[in-house]
Amino acid sequence: MKSPLNLSSQWTGYLVLLSTFGSLITPAVTVKHENFKTCNQSGFCKRNRAYADQATAVGDNWSLQAPYRLNSDSLTWKDGQLQGTILKILDGGESVRLPITISFLESGSARVTIDEEKRQKGEIELRHDSKARKERYNEAANWAIVGGLTLSKDAEYQKYPGVSHITYGPEGKFKAEVTHAPFAIDFKRNDETQIKFNDRGLMNVEHWRPKIEKPEKKEGEEETTEVQTGEDEGTWWDESFGGNTDSKPRGPESVALDITFPGYEHVFGIPEHAGPLSLKQTRGGEGNHNDPYRLYNADVFEYIMDSEMTLYGAIPFMQAHRAASTVGVFWLNAAETWIDIIKEKASINPLSGKTDTKTHWFSESGLLDIFVFLGPTPKDVTKAYGELTGYTQLPQEFSIAYHQCRWNYVTDEDVKDVDRKMDKFQIPYDVIWLDIEYTDGKKYFTWDPHTFGNHVEMLSHLDKSDRKLVAIIDPHIKNENNYPVVDELKSKDFAVHNKEGSIYEGWCWPGSSHWVDAFNPAAIKWWKTLFTKDAWKTSNLFIWNDMNEPSVFNGPETTMPKDNLHHGNWEHRDVHNINGMTFHNATYEAMVERKKGELRRPFVLTRSFYAGSQRLGAMWTGDNQADWDHLAAAFPMILNNGIAGFPFAGADVGGFFGNPEKDLLTRWYQAGAFYPFFRGHAHIDTRRREPYLAGEPYTGIITQALRLRYALLPAWYTAFYEASTDGTPIIRPHYFEYPEDESGFAIDDQFFVGSTGLLAKPVVKEGAESVEIYLPDNEVYYDYFDYSIHTGAGKTTVAAPLEKIPLLMQGGHIIPRKDRPRRSSGLMKWDPYTLILALDKNGKAHGELYVDDGETFDYQSGAYIHRSFTFENGKLSSKDIGTKGKLTDKYLKSMKNVGVEKIIIVGAPKAWSGLETVKIGSATAELSYHPEEGKKVAWAFVRAPKVAIGEDFELEFAEAGKTEL
Ligand code: NOJ
Repeated sequence: MKSPLNLSSQWTGYLVLLSTFGSLITPAVTVKHENFKTCNQSGFCKRNRAYADQATAVGDNWSLQAPYRLNSDSLTWKDGQLQGTILKILDGGESVRLPITISFLESGSARVTIDEEKRQKGEIELRHDSKARKERYNEAANWAIVGGLTLSKDAEYQKYPGVSHITYGPEGKFKAEVTHAPFAIDFKRNDETQIKFNDRGLMNVEHWRPKIEKPEKKEGEEETTEVQTGEDEGTWWDESFGGNTDSKPRGPESVALDITFPGYEHVFGIPEHAGPLSLKQTRGGEGNHNDPYRLYNADVFEYIMDSEMTLYGAIPFMQAHRAASTVGVFWLNAAETWIDIIKEKASINPLSGKTDTKTHWFSESGLLDIFVFLGPTPKDVTKAYGELTGYTQLPQEFSIAYHQCRWNYVTDEDVKDVDRKMDKFQIPYDVIWLDIEYTDGKKYFTWDPHTFGNHVEMLSHLDKSDRKLVAIIDPHIKNENNYPVVDELKSKDFAVHNKEGSIYEGWCWPGSSHWVDAFNPAAIKWWKTLFTKDAWKTSNLFIWNDMNEPSVFNGPETTMPKDNLHHGNWEHRDVHNINGMTFHNATYEAMVERKKGELRRPFVLTRSFYAGSQRLGAMWTGDNQADWDHLAAAFPMILNNGIAGFPFAGADVGGFFGNPEKDLLTRWYQAGAFYPFFRGHAHIDTRRREPYLAGEPYTGIITQALRLRYALLPAWYTAFYEASTDGTPIIRPHYFEYPEDESGFAIDDQFFVGSTGLLAKPVVKEGAESVEIYLPDNEVYYDYFDYSIHTGAGKTTVAAPLEKIPLLMQGGHIIPRKDRPRRSSGLMKWDPYTLILALDKNGKAHGELYVDDGETFDYQSGAYIHRSFTFENGKLSSKDIGTKGKLTDKYLKSMKNVGVEKIIIVGAPKAWSGLETVKIGSATAELSYHPEEGKKVAWAFVRAPKVAIGEDFELEFAEAGKTEL
């Protein structure tokens, strides 16, 4: 977020004044469109769209004319990899050599990488005496990819005249048919085409050309930008926008490809955008966007809803979905990228009523490097993508509880005061946050001596209730004398450079600043040392990385000039979308090592992200607004992030800008209780809004929402465990769980929590008294709070007065909970569990629980509990599904007194009405049976079964078979 008011302390008085007024008015705010490029203002976007238009105008014959031809003689096949050269045939008959590698991976994924020989060999000339690298950026994989690149031993290659066929994937069911001229690839599963590359002939690799200076214009002559090729060269070279000129020393160098998903009507992913889960068309028309979806990480001040505009993060991963089939592509490129989407009646069988989704991707520079996933399920796709970019971090347990933040808690006393008040009102929370004002003059790694002089004592105060502090550390380092951090940054030459090769200077919160170049391994090493000092190594202090797009207040589009230089002399243009992740990564690494002998899982929140950021912490959706539209937009955004592999996501609860009305704030907490990352946050100009300030009934209702989150932490943590092992999202959209149910594919305002069967649709509309929930199957569903029954399939109405969150339990699940209200999650560590059995229509249920110490890496050595609970034939059994490691026994011993205190069976069979006990081996436990009442189903309650959570047990309820409802 950008506010010139905060640039120096002389503004403080003004700020206080402004905040007084600001808190009285909620301004109608909207993005300044003129600060961000449209496609037409971005040279390569305009060129690639024009290329597509030309293709459309020519029609069906276009692809035959397309200039890219794979030289059949160049092809070699070795160990699952096909290599060769594509020739780009130029108008004069000359050709440009583009080396191509197609890799078939053991996981069943395929990768197509295309480079440009001339640039590869450095045989180009740079303009403006640039010191930049000559190659196309080829290090994106070093940051994004952590595994899954083993080549397939089973892939088989067959070469025919003009085409090559590769059979690969599970049981050889996948096939890539590579047409040599014009170059195109069809990816098939079970002989059916799923993905087509260059079907529309929009592939474009802008090869290197020297700039030919135009002859002087003679008097009376028209200005023309066509010089060498008949193409419009007006955007090839130096490009200006908003008063900044990009020197573009390598000239035009974009890469583009069309990717078609035949028969697929929905595409999801490519976060971050504020809009629906199912992506819209982008070439105009009613309800469609006019520009392509843009990926160019930026600090978009006051961003708008339902927009293709870029936001803070970029994950160029897309899933395409149709009934019973999901496929995906990952466009591994870190430069500015745009994606056009159009949907057309299926070309193969137009009468089928099916739709093809045709996408067109273009990036400003770098390689064409694309991974292809052929599914067939959404889980297969996210799993395969996660094998490459890593699964979500298994976070510390506190970090999935509630976070209390604002810009700013102003003194250490203020922090303690909030802490005490939360206790006084019995409101649970785990973390309090410090925004930029805690520093001494916006110098990170310092504390304002006047306001946070007692930060060490403050941290130990928080520690008493097992609470944590998160402090912000941004990548801009104040350019001021006698600030050791900047002195070292400069003397060690660890900052980003400008195009001339000296240290880049720009403006951010501290005023004049330099930026840590976290691409530089030596800079990372140095960054780590900063966290080993004083309070930074305290184990209840964690970090928030903000402004890492990077945000530069006086830079083009509020970020860095593209011709800035990073480590290895890569231009910023090449690496922009990865920049935020490298900073996040440096902080993550610093947190792992900050204290010798104490290995704790880091928690680092980031605003900017790329494919792979999920390994490092959480993200949030940036500076939203306190209005209902923004509340409604958060779920589609979080769901989209989840299916793009980064599910630890949330939005500022309450809205960052403006002052939420109390019912909005209350509804936002109820929604936030279902964000994987759950944090209340507010702008400096807003009124205080800690939950206890709302007054009754709001404070009470908000407290209930928070308690619900805390009670369900075991279920959330289990969902995080799953995500960390196979990439499944924490909150899951309908299509992900019901990939065959076409009517649910576009649903993005209700979702499932992990595999728990919890189906939530928090209220996001002003004044709503009820919501309609779409039930996917003809299973029974129980209201979470009152056990009233809803049956599917189809829509059902759930009452939703202000105090109620619409939340159902799908029959067939066992949900673990902890019901004792505590001040923080840490204090719940040894609390007993409650198991909720929501029986399905056949009287069965199943669930899982994952538990570990919630903070260390010991789980990697087996220090965890992973149980499977099954209820059938009147018996509840708990079985170990973990793998034993060297710390398993020790951990189990530490957990031996943690038991189950309650078991609640919802939808209990009538046959139990006389039952008073259940059998547990030779012992018994008391059971109370509550018959059905109106819509409320019968339920039973088992008290104190005295079984340990970490051990096998079996509870016998009644004679086998007597379980009918
Ligand atoms: C921008 C962030 O998005 C916001 O959350 C934060 O409060 C401000 N920067 C100040 O640090």
